[in-house]
Amino acid sequence: MRALASFALAIFCSLLTSASAPSSPSSTPPQSSASSKLHIQSQRLQATLEKLSEFGRNPEGGVTRLGYSDTELPAREYVIALMKQAGLEVRADAAGNLFGRRAGSENLPILLFGSHIDSVVKGGNFDGDVGSLGAIEVIRALNEDGVKTRHPLEVVVWMNEEGNHFGLSTMGSGIAAGLLGPEILERKDEQGLTVADWLRRYGQDPAHLTGARIAPGTLAAYLELHIEQGPNLEASKIPIGVVQGIVGLKRWRCVATGLANHAGTTPMDHRKDALAAASRDLLAVRDVVRAEQGRQVGTVGYMKAEPGAVNVIPGRVEFPIELRDLDAAKIDRLWEQIQRKLKPIDKEENVETRCTEFDDIAPARTDSAVQAAIREAAKSLGLPTMDLPSGAVHDAQQMAKLAPFGMIFIPSHDGISHSPKEFTSWPDVANGAEVLYRSLLLVDAQLNRK
Ligand code: HGY
Ligand code: MN
Ligand code: MN
Repeated sequence: MRALASFALAIFCSLLTSASAPSSPSSTPPQSSASSKLHIQSQRLQATLEKLSEFGRNPEGGVTRLGYSDTELPAREYVIALMKQAGLEVRADAAGNLFGRRAGSENLPILLFGSHIDSVVKGGNFDGDVGSLGAIEVIRALNEDGVKTRHPLEVVVWMNEEGNHFGLSTMGSGIAAGLLGPEILERKDEQGLTVADWLRRYGQDPAHLTGARIAPGTLAAYLELHIEQGPNLEASKIPIGVVQGIVGLKRWRCVATGLANHAGTTPMDHRKDALAAASRDLLAVRDVVRAEQGRQVGTVGYMKAEPGAVNVIPGRVEFPIELRDLDAAKIDRLWEQIQRKLKPIDKEENVETRCTEFDDIAPARTDSAVQAAIREAAKSLGLPTMDLPSGAVHDAQQMAKLAPFGMIFIPSHDGISHSPKEFTSWPDVANGAEVLYRSLLLVDAQLNRK
């Protein structure tokens, strides 16, 4: 593969010199002089990201733009318009995932790249947005450079990656990968609307959901640019991350049932306090996950205590447990240990806790040849790289079932994400989009050579 990479690099460099690099804007010079040959236009990309941040903006900053929501619909129209202006042939699949196609010169499988534009509740303006709009910027730059790739290109904007709606992360890509199907159509949200209801509001026919499945052999490779959402790149002063693998996760919805009772007249040793039990459960999760070496993480993201009155002992608490790790077997092992801890807590607190699994995303390793292409691309820009795992889940791992894939990370300031404080500098955004441009050309040159 090494020889192939340098062969590809030769092709790539010839592409670079032949393609007339547009005059790159000088306002936000990238990290190194070598990257002054930016093909993408940093200011244009920045302007589209700033426009996208208006849809679902929160007064305190950041954004709430859930998948399948009324705030996402105008954002979707904006992205469709950007895709069309970039000359892409735009379509939505039966899950609502958006695809923009650019023909290649040969009859080859598709090079797919993109991300998502939905956010978490009170999230940031870079998670997903950078990879989605960065992909469209790459298309504009290819158009301006007059570059025709061998493989057909498709930009994708996945639906409901965050899964803050319906509790299913990477939902759109999971449907496309054939991992989710009609069994989710009747899932209800807090307004009592089902997945099917929202698909209809997005102009899709729920009866055709499986039509969104991407057939094996359709894709040549998948690439995603994304913010790291962690501290490593910034702490190491490295502008480009080459993702080695993406963690898997499992999620359970737990309900602790005790007895709502008078807070003043119920003696402390006569209580069935569901919130006291759930709080001990949370600490048990943390203790089990912390007890061994490794990057595994465990989280209880919220607790909904009922009836929620200051003078009533909570009789019912609903809370999720989420475990993540690169090793699916470790997740299962940790879950066994947690369950063994929850039982005695129930007994001591006189409550009953039931947990039901509701999400399961397998971990995935990226493809070494795609990793090599990302490293070569960054090197051609004079940018150092760092190999690292992803502690966040991504649509890319669902594509692992269909094709070799790779992810490009750019730094997150203070490692913060899923927060209005989420920030990545514009030069880092520009570098990431340029590395995506160049990685794509390298992968296009390497793959499906007879
Ligand atoms: O939750 C995650 O890991 C991702 O940001 N959806
Ligand atoms: Mn994301
Ligand atoms: Mn996210």
